[in-house]
Amino acid sequence: MITFTKTIADHILKLRHQVLRPGLPIAEVIFPEDQDQETRHYGALEQQREVICCVTLIPSTWHGEPAWRLRAMATAPGRRNQGIGTGLIRYMFVDLQESNQTRPIWSNARVSSARFYRELGWWEVSEKFENGNAGLSVTMLRKDASHWAGSGGWNIQGIGMNDGQSILDPSNSLQGKLPFYGCLWKKMGLRRLGLFTRIDL
Ligand SMILES: CC(C)(COP(=O)(O)OP(=O)(O)OC[C@H]1O[C@@H](n2cnc3c(N)ncnc32)[C@H](O)[C@@H]1OP(=O)(O)O)[C@@H](O)C(=O)NCCC(=O)NCCS
Repeated sequence: MITFTKTIADHILKLRHQVLRPGLPIAEVIFPEDQDQETRHYGALEQQREVICCVTLIPSTWHGEPAWRLRAMATAPGRRNQGIGTGLIRYMFVDLQESNQTRPIWSNARVSSARFYRELGWWEVSEKFENGNAGLSVTMLRKDASHWAGSGGWNIQGIGMNDGQSILDPSNSLQGKLPFYGCLWKKMGLRRLGLFTRIDL
């Protein structure tokens, strides 16, 4: 049985280290904010013991407004592609909603995991860049965690994507037309192609 829970940094360091910086000193995955009271750590536990997935939210800002920075998302190698990461992120959304702490969430995501975040409502807001030991990365933003909490579905807003790059700027004037195209796309059953990313209206 898998349980999603809030946890403490010490419980997830081993998994962070194993997945995100194998072979490097564990200090690489210890963040100065880990022990701050406002920082939130989440974990998926197998049989209520072993941590098989983790993620951390650190208080931050986005364009001067309060935001969260998501860091160190990791699923144990043998447990990937089973929906555990998605489940943990949804648990996190519910927790934020219940505690009235819904804010934009940004992250410097590995390009290799950008699709995972896109499926959950983030979109790319930067060019790709080299990010030290994390490798090729891109900054991703999710504006509002409230809509998807507990939802198994797909929100309809979308903009065109071309090989992972936005064709349209989500903040431009076409925004009002996007739900229509998103709806159409969904009706055509094309959700899984990753051609659309979500925006909040
Ligand atoms: C990115 C990462 C955390 C995702 O965790 P995960 O537990 O594998 O995530 P999920 O299983 O929920 O989703 C992963 C994929 O499986 C699919 N999936 C979801 N539920 C599924 C299920 N029940 N069965 C099969 N596949 C499923 C998802 O749609 C997703 O597909 P896509 O991203 O290729 O479109 C994990 O791959 C990982 O740890 N990667 C290495 C470290 C890393 O890159 N971390 C991110 C740092 S920015």
